[in-house]
Amino acid sequence: MICYFSGTGNTKWAATQLAEATGDRLIYIPEHIGKPFVYEFQEGERIGFCFPVHGWRPPRIVRQFISQLQLNADEHYTYALCTAGDTIGETIDIFEQDLACKGIKLDAAFSLIMPESYVGLPFMDVDNSKNEKKKCSQAADDLSIYTQDILNRRKVKALPHIGRWPKINSRLIGEIFVKKLITDKPFHVDSAKCIKCGICAKVCPVHNIEGGTAHEPQWKRNGTCLVCFACYHHCPRHAIEYGRQTKHKGQYFFNHDRCAHSKPNI
Ligand SMILES: Cc1cc2nc3c(=O)[nH]c(=O)nc-3n(C[C@H](O)[C@H](O)[C@H](O)COP(=O)(O)O)c2cc1C
Ligand code: SF4
Ligand code: SF4
Repeated sequence: MICYFSGTGNTKWAATQLAEATGDRLIYIPEHIGKPFVYEFQEGERIGFCFPVHGWRPPRIVRQFISQLQLNADEHYTYALCTAGDTIGETIDIFEQDLACKGIKLDAAFSLIMPESYVGLPFMDVDNSKNEKKKCSQAADDLSIYTQDILNRRKVKALPHIGRWPKINSRLIGEIFVKKLITDKPFHVDSAKCIKCGICAKVCPVHNIEGGTAHEPQWKRNGTCLVCFACYHHCPRHAIEYGRQTKHKGQYFFNHDRCAHSKPNI
């Protein structure tokens, strides 16, 4: 099985490509939150976890899912693949510790650099289209190699994107990031631009938006928002803003046509 979470589609693409190549079943993490996760393994079945990096850590929903696992994973090859815009810090170490708490050992881990989705701070924006294409193309090449490793059950850590100061980024800044910046309080809609299409509510992976056709979005503000920015990026009118941080920022979500070369050569 391949358990995955994705906000703007990068990780979904990677997980789907892996599922096609391995024949392993996809499990969408948000559908399994709030209850113990029990699973009947086939003999020799692999366990994969795919998720984006959020604040140099695994996203909160992924960590919550791990805490719910009730698996007897002893003889199963287990791997993690994270996608990030730039650097991953100690994301995989944190994930490995979470798994260890459930008695699961990580055999392999991989990182992929993909287009940037975080736009919530003044110096952060999406990639320009040239960088976007370049990242997608490189990600497809890297994923081809990782797929072979996974098919051959290699025990490797292919993490070329740890970056500088991983401990400070993941343990210190990551902690502040989660506490202060994972909140939907700054989200608001520009009524003059909103066409009440309902897309934002539809794409939210955790159903944190009241809305739908003929309604403007209303964020629930109850602590479930992951700040994945799927709502912001998918709005066809750029009507969603995150405080004043997104005023002149771009939008991005994974699109097979824009990333035409992103088919791994497997
Ligand atoms: C809340 C949030 C935090 C992020 N933090 C990081 C980060 O620490 N390092 C990084 O390189 N990219 C970071 N990113 C970018 C994403 O990891 C990257 O764009 C990822 O591929 C998005 O995957 P998705 O499309 O499956 O959601 C962040 C994105 C979001 C939304
Ligand atoms: S996606 Fe944009 S235009 Fe459509 S309802 Fe949401 S805010 Fe309004
Ligand atoms: S409200 Fe927007 S940012 Fe928050 S989880 Fe839903 S789609 Fe992601």
